[in-house]
Amino acid sequence: MAENNGMGYMPKEEVIEKWQYASNLSDEELLAMDEVEFRARVRERSHHTLEIQVYHAAYRNLTLSATQADLTKRLLKLWVQRGLPTDAPEYKYASFLVESADKLSRGESVDLKPYTPTPVTKEMEDNFFTIVKERRSVREFTDEDVPDEILYKVLEAGLWAAHGCNVQSIRYAIIREKTTPGLFKGSDVPGGPIHLLILQDMRCYRANNFTPVRNQLLDAGAAGQNIVLAAHAAGLEGVWLTFPNQEFSDRLKNKLNLPDYIRPVTYVDVGYGDQTPHPPLRWPVEDTILASI
Ligand SMILES: Cc1cc2nc3c(=O)[nH]c(=O)nc-3n(C[C@H](O)[C@H](O)[C@H](O)COP(=O)(O)O)c2cc1C
Repeated sequence: MAENNGMGYMPKEEVIEKWQYASNLSDEELLAMDEVEFRARVRERSHHTLEIQVYHAAYRNLTLSATQADLTKRLLKLWVQRGLPTDAPEYKYASFLVESADKLSRGESVDLKPYTPTPVTKEMEDNFFTIVKERRSVREFTDEDVPDEILYKVLEAGLWAAHGCNVQSIRYAIIREKTTPGLFKGSDVPGGPIHLLILQDMRCYRANNFTPVRNQLLDAGAAGQNIVLAAHAAGLEGVWLTFPNQEFSDRLKNKLNLPDYIRPVTYVDVGYGDQTPHPPLRWPVEDTILASI
C-alpha cells in the first residue's frame, strides 16, 4: 500500500486510483478505516463541504441548502459509532459548522461576533514585529534546562499554523541532547540542547490525495516558522535546521521507532540562547517585489 521513496511514506499510484472522497465511501469502509485517516477525513470534508460555505452564506445573509451539512452529519454519526471522543477538536468544530449550516438553511443568521479576535493594539502590533525582526538563528546555548511547559507552548504555536485543507498532519518528537548524546552527529548544530523534530503523519493526506507534495512540505514549513517565532517570544532561542542526508533522518526514525507513515521533515533546535548574532540584513521590501499590478 505504501512505498518509501526517500521522503518517507507516499501513497502508491494504485492507492491514488482507488482513492475516494469520504462521500463516495460506504459507512462500512469509513468505520473500518484507520482512526487517524478517518479523523483527517472529518477535518478535510467539513472544511471543504461546510466551513467555506457556512462563512460565505453567513457573511452575505444567504440561505444554505438543507442538505449542505448531510455529509458532515453522516461523518459525525460514524464518529460516535466508532466511539471516538465527542470533546475532540474536530468533532466540536464540525458540530459548530453543522449547527450553523442548519440555522442558515432555515434562513436564520449565525452570530460570529463571539469569535471576533482581540483588537490588535499599536503595542501588540509593535511587539509582533519586534519578535519577527529580532528572532535570530542562534546556534550556541546555555546548559539551563527548558521546562516542558515552555516547549509545549512553542510546539502548540506550530499546530496553530495554517495547514492545507485542514488535514493537520503535524506531529513532533522532542529529543534532548542530554539523553541521547551524539544522535545528531552531522547536524550543523550537533550540541543543540533540545531538538524539536517536525514530523508528518502521512495518513492524514489520504483524506485528500490531490495535495501536492509541495503543499505537504509547506504545512511543515508553516509549523516550523511559528515554532521559531514562538521560541523567541517565549524567551528561548533556536535555529531551524536541515537533515544533512537520508542516513541522518533514518537514524532518527530508527531511534524513535517511527513507523513508515511518519515522515520526518525538518527540525528546530531550541534552548536558552548564549549568542547574539548580528542580524543577517534583509533587502528593502521594494527590491523584492517583482510585480505589483
Ligand atoms: C528551511 C531552513 C533550513 C535551514 N537549515 C539550516 C541548517 O541546516 N543549518 C543552519 O545552521 N541554519 C539553517 N537554517 C537557518 C538559516 O541559516 C537562517 O535562518 C538564515 O541564515 C537567516 O538568519 P536568521 O534566521 O538569523 O534571520 C535554516 C533555515 C531554514 C528556513
